Amino acid sequence: MSAPPEGRGLLIRGGRLCDPARGRDEVADLYLSDGKIALESAPAGTPVLEVGGLLISPGFIDLHVHLREPGFEDKETIATGTQAAARGGFTTVCCMPNTEPPTDSRAAVEFILRRAATHGAIRVLPIGCITKGRRGHELAEMGELAAAGVVGFSDDGSPVADSRLMRQAMEYSRAFGLPVIDHCQDPALSQGGVVNEGAVSSRLGLVGMPAAAEEVMVARDIALAELTGACLHLAHLSAASSVEHLRRAKALGLPVTAEVTPHHLALTEGRVMGVLGPLPHKLGPLPASAYDTNAKVNPPLRTERDRQALLAALRAGLIDAIATDHAPHTLVDKECEFDDAAFGISGLETAAGVLLTLVDKGELELTTVIAALTAGPARLLGRPDLGALRAGAAADLVLIDPRAEWAVEPAQFASKGHNTPLAGARLRGKVLATIYGGHIAYLDPALEMKGAPLA
Ligand code: DOR
Repeated sequence: MSAPPEGRGLLIRGGRLCDPARGRDEVADLYLSDGKIALESAPAGTPVLEVGGLLISPGFIDLHVHLREPGFEDKETIATGTQAAARGGFTTVCCMPNTEPPTDSRAAVEFILRRAATHGAIRVLPIGCITKGRRGHELAEMGELAAAGVVGFSDDGSPVADSRLMRQAMEYSRAFGLPVIDHCQDPALSQGGVVNEGAVSSRLGLVGMPAAAEEVMVARDIALAELTGACLHLAHLSAASSVEHLRRAKALGLPVTAEVTPHHLALTEGRVMGVLGPLPHKLGPLPASAYDTNAKVNPPLRTERDRQALLAALRAGLIDAIATDHAPHTLVDKECEFDDAAFGISGLETAAGVLLTLVDKGELELTTVIAALTAGPARLLGRPDLGALRAGAAADLVLIDPRAEWAVEPAQFASKGHNTPLAGARLRGKVLATIYGGHIAYLDPALEMKGAPLA
């Protein structure tokens, strides 16, 4: 990482500043000084970066990533995962505890924080386990985890099946003022499932996970949030029916929030068969790319109806945040029988491109997307110092060319995980620079060549 020229700050001039937390969307200059967004206007002689035509957003915040370290460094490390995040425009990521050992002790939290401080390109906020070892039998030492600095509790990858245990977890989490983040899935109902249950599972002869497996757990968790008064955050919603429960919970004023992934907003179950759009009515021969394990993800990609419901819920503000569920895996984890392949998509480096492409296609508004990547997650984390371009706050921001077209090339990822169903896809909208605490965490060669006085 490098810094703008010592002591002279940097004036970013002529960009479209989109800052939903402060209700701003206008062409404006931004002066950075001492790693912060400066109050005063830039003094004469300040280095200038001309960014006319570019978008300036607060640095993105991802509530849901898998950094894999410790234990699975062949898939990702804190260093490579945060570099991937920086390339994607993120300046803060919250990392899930399904590492080895899992993040269920003070020592495990401290390891992540230490490692992030020395090897991380951006801010890392750890999430602690709900249950010891993520085994779902006994509560983790939640007080110890809270004191060590976790920002929430989750057994992500697995649901907490035992409702009594979940109730207790919520009671404790409430005392610590932290959310419980659930991977909502009834394990009995989804058992053995590898794709959505429906047309594609029938056609390919694969075991399906019904949307109802998510829905019943969403409903249970909302009932428990009502019972305990705890903050409940619903991870990676995928089903239209879940959205209806979220709507009811919010109408009742319950402290329930939700996130959605870029892949559930952009793709459907047809992608597993190599089809990008909704399934054709007449089923021809299977395309060569059928059984594409890069589209195997948990929860699974679902139907066009589900996708539309998720888009509508985001537009309506029912869904609070977009989170990538960045789940990097090795080639070996994915190049095998569909049933045996690991679940997950490497998503940090394609998120902005996918979402801005949806904006370009008219499916989402730009401000909705930026809010769900900045103000929304900052609110859930209770961090007014993040997700907004406030004077005096750390200079965490991203410069984006909303018109730049590019093709997804997984081999070029900073992430070790090249597992994406978007390889070769042409996206519109590209991150050109990510600035974290006034330092350059990522700079696209296109901006470098313009002679930016940054690096
Ligand atoms: O697809 C997924 N991959 N979903 C999860 O919940 C876990 C994740 C992983 O850790 O690979």
